[in-house]
Amino acid sequence: MISIVAGTNRADSKTLKLATYIAELYRERGEKITLLDLSKLPPELLSPLSYGQKPADFVEQFSEPLLASRGTHWIIPEYNGSFPGALKLLIDHLPFPDFYDSRPAAFTGLSAGSSGGMRPVEQMQQIMAYRNGYAYNRRVFIPATYQTLDDQGVPLEEELRERLQRQVDGFRTFASRVHALTDS
Ligand SMILES: Cc1cc2nc3c(=O)[nH]c(=O)nc-3n(C[C@H](O)[C@H](O)[C@H](O)COP(=O)(O)O)c2cc1C
Repeated sequence: MISIVAGTNRADSKTLKLATYIAELYRERGEKITLLDLSKLPPELLSPLSYGQKPADFVEQFSEPLLASRGTHWIIPEYNGSFPGALKLLIDHLPFPDFYDSRPAAFTGLSAGSSGGMRPVEQMQQIMAYRNGYAYNRRVFIPATYQTLDDQGVPLEEELRERLQRQVDGFRTFASRVHALTDS
């Protein structure tokens, strides 16, 4: 099973729509998917006490499915030259080192501007490297989201759909190989 994190909690985000499209690409290959929507993060996670006592909803709906997956595909929008605060909130509440150590990770960035989310993706890669994860380096960056994606988050250009398919196929193999190496 692969987990996909739609990296914002903004209502009606392009990120969640794109993540839903990417989830379908995995499912078409027979892969089981858990899609995590940060708009469903329990508000109690913002409580100062939540670092000690995680909300039960968070453990059931976020930590456990993420831990059970053999790799995580992060869909990361650019907000103010970085990734959204909701995504950092998730990261800071996931179990360390259990979630991060040796975890295969793929990255797809998106932005309304021209960079395609390269800045937030590279910032996330720094975090994952610091936490001893394994990055799949075939990243995809999607610029000008209001021109390149349709209302359902589907890329309008065939070339971009193909690039996402190659990323999905490559990451499935990469995640399995990383596990074969790290489990032995
Ligand atoms: C709070 C906020 C900050 C944003 N900052 C940037 C930015 O720095 N650069 C950029 O190209 N787009 C920026 N955007 C636009 C998003 O990248 C754009 O809406 C894109 O579709 C992905 O975000 P979404 O999933 O919320 O739709 C920002 C959007 C929001 C809501």
